Amino acid sequence: MDFSKDFLRKLDSSKSLVFFTGAGISAESGIPTFRGKDGIWNKLRPEELASFNAFMKNPEMVWEWYQYRRKIISETQPNPGHYTIAEFSKHFDNVSVVTQNVDNLHRRAGSENVYELHGNIEVNYCVDCSEPFEDQIDYSNNELIRCRNCNGFIRPGVVWFGEMLPQEVFAKSERIASNCDICFIVGTSAVVYPAASIPISAKQNGAYLVEINTDATEISHFVDYSVMGKSGEVLPAMLEELLKLRD
Ligand code: OAD
Repeated sequence: MDFSKDFLRKLDSSKSLVFFTGAGISAESGIPTFRGKDGIWNKLRPEELASFNAFMKNPEMVWEWYQYRRKIISETQPNPGHYTIAEFSKHFDNVSVVTQNVDNLHRRAGSENVYELHGNIEVNYCVDCSEPFEDQIDYSNNELIRCRNCNGFIRPGVVWFGEMLPQEVFAKSERIASNCDICFIVGTSAVVYPAASIPISAKQNGAYLVEINTDATEISHFVDYSVMGKSGEVLPAMLEELLKLRD
């Protein structure tokens, strides 16, 4: 795989990298993306499954869907894309991952500075009193769980449509993106805001933007360098080229 020499030199001289990731980075692990031909939102309506109103209207159905997704995710493994991002931190002073994914695969691959803008599917809390529910959940039992504190329903710790992003995580992500040398935009359609404003903040503060995606996206015209391909193939090849250059 060929990379531009200018880009490799820029990468070599950079100290601080941010990887802004979306569902595409987990596609090669077997987790479906949201948009595109086989995307989840092509077959199912987000407002019926991923909103607070949907949960209050039909908690059994929404809980069952999340139990199904958790089961799929728990049976998957990180792929070379996740592992290579974790590996990058051995070669640069600062490497952070700002992800829209809730699947925990960056942490499982060994990344340390991970900021989850849309929450984490393994986390749960009470819909009424917000008390965390930390017991291990059996993903094959779809029965609703009640809060020990107030008897409210337990919900997944993900951000639903219409809900605010975790403000501290978002503010920290913006700060990191505003101070990085390169922001990689990996496997995301970059259409869901405010998350998609992260690479824009990076660019406005002087960062070089690199997109890695199998297709062109809304943000392609805005980036400095675009690599078309699967993140599980592009990222390992990119790190290999950098290490050759440094040899
Ligand atoms: P999308 O499903 O919108 O976009 C996935 C992107 O990954 C597309 O641009 C694909 O072209 C690309 N892609 C697919 N396979 C790839 C691969 N192997 N390597 C590289 N790129 C690949 O997913 P997101 O952008 O993550 O929000 O979606 C953003 C948010 O919308 C999600 O976090 C979720 C969803 O509704 C909430 O649940 C709040």
